Amino acid sequence: MTTSLRCALVGTGAVAHLHARAVAAHPHARLVAVTNLHRTVADDFAAQWDVPAVYDDLDELLAAEHPDVVLICTPPGAHHGQTLQAFAAGAHVVVEKPPASSLDELDEMRAAAAAADRQLAVVFQQRTGTAAAHVRRLLQAGALGRPLIAVCQTLWYRDAAYFAVPWRGRWETEGGGTTLGHGIHQLDLLAFLLGDWAGVQGRLWRLDRQTQTEDASTATITFESGVVAQVVTSAVSPREVSSIRIDTQKATITVEHLYGHGHQNWAITPVPGLEREAAAWALPDHEERSDHEPLLRDVFDALLAGDRLPPTATDPARSFEIVAAIYASAAADGAVITPVDLATHPTHRSGFASPVSDMRAIRT
Ligand SMILES: NC(=O)c1ccc[n+]([C@@H]2O[C@H](COP(=O)([O-])OP(=O)(O)OC[C@H]3O[C@@H](n4cnc5c(N)ncnc54)[C@H](O)[C@@H]3O)[C@@H](O)[C@H]2O)c1
Repeated sequence: MTTSLRCALVGTGAVAHLHARAVAAHPHARLVAVTNLHRTVADDFAAQWDVPAVYDDLDELLAAEHPDVVLICTPPGAHHGQTLQAFAAGAHVVVEKPPASSLDELDEMRAAAAAADRQLAVVFQQRTGTAAAHVRRLLQAGALGRPLIAVCQTLWYRDAAYFAVPWRGRWETEGGGTTLGHGIHQLDLLAFLLGDWAGVQGRLWRLDRQTQTEDASTATITFESGVVAQVVTSAVSPREVSSIRIDTQKATITVEHLYGHGHQNWAITPVPGLEREAAAWALPDHEERSDHEPLLRDVFDALLAGDRLPPTATDPARSFEIVAAIYASAAADGAVITPVDLATHPTHRSGFASPVSDMRAIRT
């Protein structure tokens, strides 16, 4: 058994710092090497996080270091190729969201993990934290009755400068717009809580930004459990919020936050008259916020113990498929897309580029 995980990181940009912090917080993991498209960016990062080795590219790094784990923090277009490289070199992979640019790519990444007998963990850190775990347990146990209707909002604000980064806003390099890049977090938490989906109807909108991809989307999702969810995702909303509301037969569950949630962000409001029963639904005393740190800790602990990945890091396809189905529905003029449609369609699995309704041209 490995007693300490030697981690390498590719893509030393913004999110990489959260990975470095999470590695530093783990007693049996360390960051041994980094690489970036631009050497100076990698050098600065290595100096900041005390990383002993910097390489010009991932091939060189893998050949020299044979890391146990590769943390992939590059833009989405690079995830697939770098994941396959890491598995070929015998490493486990932790890849940032969105895991790939298409369902086909994710399938190949999962197949490569199985072939190499390595694990593929995807960073959807909104699933972590003691409150999400608690609410999921209540829902799975049926303690709140049947979930009925849900509202899922990712109303964020990204200005023109944000989209000026060369890889953003373009199908080829970002893979999708705000649905894939931002909404996926809340959609992933929604699916973590509600389980498998049954149908998706969606539309893509370009409301204000100079992007090729959408800057907003709207969708209706039905789940196998019978829940109907209304989803709005936007990159043009000045008062930002990430929120989920689930109405069950016995209560309304809400979480409202921006990039991470603790207990104070959650509420479980019982149907009047059920207050006594509701006392048993209270959040636990021990609180851990959602974050990269608990996610990487649980992944590292599982790898060190030779266990399966924790539920917070597995099943990336579930929410990724919901996102894919929103794009597929937009491409099919708003038709309902089912899991069978996604599995069998000749092009839906190969990418997300879809028609975006451009509302900027409309003047009143
Ligand atoms: N989980 C989260 O909360 C969260 C938050 C932000 C970003 N992300 C995701 O993390 C990824 C990176 O986002 P970011 O905001 O850190 O981007 P970023 O642009 O700040 O950093 C990406 C870095 O990767 C480097 N890079 C690009 N292509 C490369 C290649 N082929 N090989 C090596 N290095 C390469 C760039 O030079 C840059 O330094 C994206 O998938 C994004 O969606 C996740």
